[in-house]
Amino acid sequence: MSMLSLSTIDEAYTRISHVVHLTPLVRNRTLAEMADSDLALKAENLQRTGSFKIRGAFNKTAVVHEAGGTGVVTGSSGNHGAATAWAARYFHLQAHIVVPKNASPQKVQAARSYGANIEFVGTTSQERLERAQQISQDLGLSFVAPFDDPDVMAGQGTIGLEILEQLPEVELVVVPVGGGGLIAGIATAIKGKRPDVRVIGVEPLGAPKAYLSRQQGRLIVLDSTDTIADGLKTLSLGEKTYPVIERLVDDIVQVNDQEIHNAMSLLLTRQKMLAEPSGAATLAYVLRRPSQIRHRKTVAVVSGGNIDPSSLCHLLDSSTP
Ligand SMILES: Cc1ncc(COP(=O)(O)O)c(C=O)c1O
Repeated sequence: MSMLSLSTIDEAYTRISHVVHLTPLVRNRTLAEMADSDLALKAENLQRTGSFKIRGAFNKTAVVHEAGGTGVVTGSSGNHGAATAWAARYFHLQAHIVVPKNASPQKVQAARSYGANIEFVGTTSQERLERAQQISQDLGLSFVAPFDDPDVMAGQGTIGLEILEQLPEVELVVVPVGGGGLIAGIATAIKGKRPDVRVIGVEPLGAPKAYLSRQQGRLIVLDSTDTIADGLKTLSLGEKTYPVIERLVDDIVQVNDQEIHNAMSLLLTRQKMLAEPSGAATLAYVLRRPSQIRHRKTVAVVSGGNIDPSSLCHLLDSSTP
């Protein structure tokens, strides 16, 4: 395991670029006007397995494979589990995925379809990560952490490299925050190459672990969370992601579930783009027209598009054209 740095992100890109899609930067005039910003959306909802998670999961699983490992195990609310299962199948490794009892059926089905063993445990990230670590010890499988691992963070950071290639004049990048692997990786890539570009983290009002950690100057662990953004429900940032976020992320902001819902609905009706709640959180923030994004060349990372058919029906029912 190596430390997270610009060079480990470059190495990750070499390892994963033959497998991950170079996702487009999507521009939509209506949304840009609504946000009063020169806005582009980094469409990781179009990524293989439906979210950015394949980048980190594939990088870590490739490292395990190179080291002669026989299998991988993880605990995940869904996207990371599916991505890890996909990567394990690629390398013909065994995969064991621990998911919460209330996991999104579509995400669980994806992991199962890639050949992983699925185990349902508890409802919190803590419960499933503890179980995954136990299995790792008992069965000798390598643990693929959802965010708190430098190889995983390096994989996610490849999005930062792509954004700088695709839009060299970018001024601001907006990223959703769950456990912080995505933003730690992206911020390391962006600040390593272009320290002048601002990086802003967005989290739900009902899961304010990064916001409170920043406010109180220490790693805060929440007792519970309440939000429709299932990928951002983590109880705390990681011990490895937190210091990177503190050092490199310019601002942490919050959005409520209604704003997330509206952003999903707008993405669908105006751009024909399907985002899951965690993926739409960044647009939700941008649409508030905060002064720090106005008239700026802004990239909002739409991190995933995996949504259950029933939630999609609900979204369509409640969408206004
Ligand atoms: C779609 C989506 N966006 C964002 C995140 C947050 O990523 P991280 O935990 O690395 O902050 C997740 C995590 O599961 C996710 O599934």
